[in-house]
Amino acid sequence: MPTSTPEQDFFRPVSHSRTTLTELMIPSYANFGGKIHGGILLSLMDKVAYACAAKHAGNYCVTVTVDGVHFLQPVEVGELVSLMASVNYVGKTSLLVGIKVIAENVKSGSVKHTNTSYFTMVAKGEDDKPALVPGLTLETPDDARRFIEALQRKEIKARSEQEFKEIKTHLELQQHLPTLDGQRCQMAFSL
Ligand SMILES: CC(C)(COP(=O)(O)OP(=O)(O)OC[C@H]1O[C@@H](n2cnc3c(N)ncnc32)[C@H](O)[C@@H]1OP(=O)(O)O)[C@@H](O)C(=O)NCCC(=O)NCCS
Repeated sequence: MPTSTPEQDFFRPVSHSRTTLTELMIPSYANFGGKIHGGILLSLMDKVAYACAAKHAGNYCVTVTVDGVHFLQPVEVGELVSLMASVNYVGKTSLLVGIKVIAENVKSGSVKHTNTSYFTMVAKGEDDKPALVPGLTLETPDDARRFIEALQRKEIKARSEQEFKEIKTHLELQQHLPTLDGQRCQMAFSL
């Protein structure tokens, strides 16, 4: 069982903050190719992440990081987009909100999964400082699986960020120039 301090002994179930936002894709959302702008979907994802996180936290929340944004399939004008959000993990003041996005063609009834992304949000108190969030009551095996996956993802991300930081710190341009061989770039300078 997870350990908790007395002040953390307040828990809210995943179902308390589960949120779905459905929006019709109108023509003004389209890009020059006639498909929905990625930015429109990102904005809707940020909205639903906020609603879900704020409901769990009982506080104002801010977006810190966004992971796993891959637009797998284009969304068309006229489709109904639903964004289903739930809190997958909570730390002390941060929450990870998982968002599944589907687009439905109301005429044909076909439904496509366009992406699943993860928003890290932090709750803020009246003083604008990070504020403690309630613990999470895992109601189903899926809730537990998502919490465990979030822990693993957090660990992998921290490792890879550290690794990349070291690469950046020690990167010797001259030594790495051969890695450009075979890449689609050309050098317009000399060292
Ligand atoms: C996010 C923010 C609150 C962090 O403030 P801070 O004083 O550095 O706070 P802390 O170091 O105590 O971190 C608070 C929590 O955020 C988490 N966090 C901070 N940076 C993070 C990052 N890059 N990725 C994931 N989590 C992060 C910490 O792990 C901590 O989580 P925990 O309390 O659950 O352990 C602050 O940087 C901020 O307000 N950023 C602007 C956010 C914003 O305005 N977003 C809107 C888009 S512009």
